[in-house]
Amino acid sequence: MAIFKKKKPELSLEGIVLPKHIGIIMDGNGRWAKKRGLPRKAGHREGAQVFRKITRYCSEIGIKYLTVYAFSTENWKRPEDEVGALMGLFKSYLEEALSDFKDDDIVVRFIGDKSGFSPELQALMTENEESSKNRDGMVLNIAMNYGSRDEIVRAVKSISAKVKSGELDESDIDEKLVSDNLYTAGQPDPDLIIRPSGEYRISNFMLWQAAYTEFVIMNKLWPDFQKSDLDEALLIYAQRSRRYGGI
Ligand code: IPE
Ligand code: IPE
Ligand code: MG
Repeated sequence: MAIFKKKKPELSLEGIVLPKHIGIIMDGNGRWAKKRGLPRKAGHREGAQVFRKITRYCSEIGIKYLTVYAFSTENWKRPEDEVGALMGLFKSYLEEALSDFKDDDIVVRFIGDKSGFSPELQALMTENEESSKNRDGMVLNIAMNYGSRDEIVRAVKSISAKVKSGELDESDIDEKLVSDNLYTAGQPDPDLIIRPSGEYRISNFMLWQAAYTEFVIMNKLWPDFQKSDLDEALLIYAQRSRRYGGI
């Protein structure tokens, strides 16, 4: 007897309002590996492939800014072998990324404290930024050694140094000035943040920038995340009513 599988209806993005800036907290790699009896690093490897696929897809559908959370300032707490595996993955990935994303015209940027990484990784990050900076496609921010509290502390320090030296007056300090001193200076705030893996928390990601961001939590682990999951998040986003405190 033939078994017919009912196909999930295709979602269509036609005519919907797309976010200009999407943030993704790429979470759930470890649980994905555990479910399969694999070491956590296998989940990170799979997650990196999904990152490439979803990044290209965002660029194809016309997203202007994509920020992915790859490694937080708190992730250094993890066991040495997991951190080591992640650093190895970043290195091999960043080597490939030099040519990867070229066809899609993607501008690669890193947000976070680069100085926490090895000189080799730092050089690769700079090389990626330099070689892609004149492209005119989607801006991809890769958040590595990123923590939003750390980002805000840096902004406060930089502004107070300028006040102290007389370059700025206290009365110059406003919301725009704070925004301009964050890693995301000059970029629009994220309209939508997607968190796979079903966790209902922000985990130190874009605290200032997310003041009016729409959140979509999805019950899928990041390595299982598909283009159709992104479509689903975009459709949910398109149905939200953003009021910014108004009515
Ligand atoms: C996200 O997946 C990747 C990083 C934080 C580096 P996790 O490693 O946090 O996976 P879970 O949450 O333990 O499943
Ligand atoms: C957030 O995930 C950081 C990244 C996805 C890079 P975590 O797994 O570190 O967050 P918590 O510990 O669940 O809050
Ligand atoms: Mg996690």
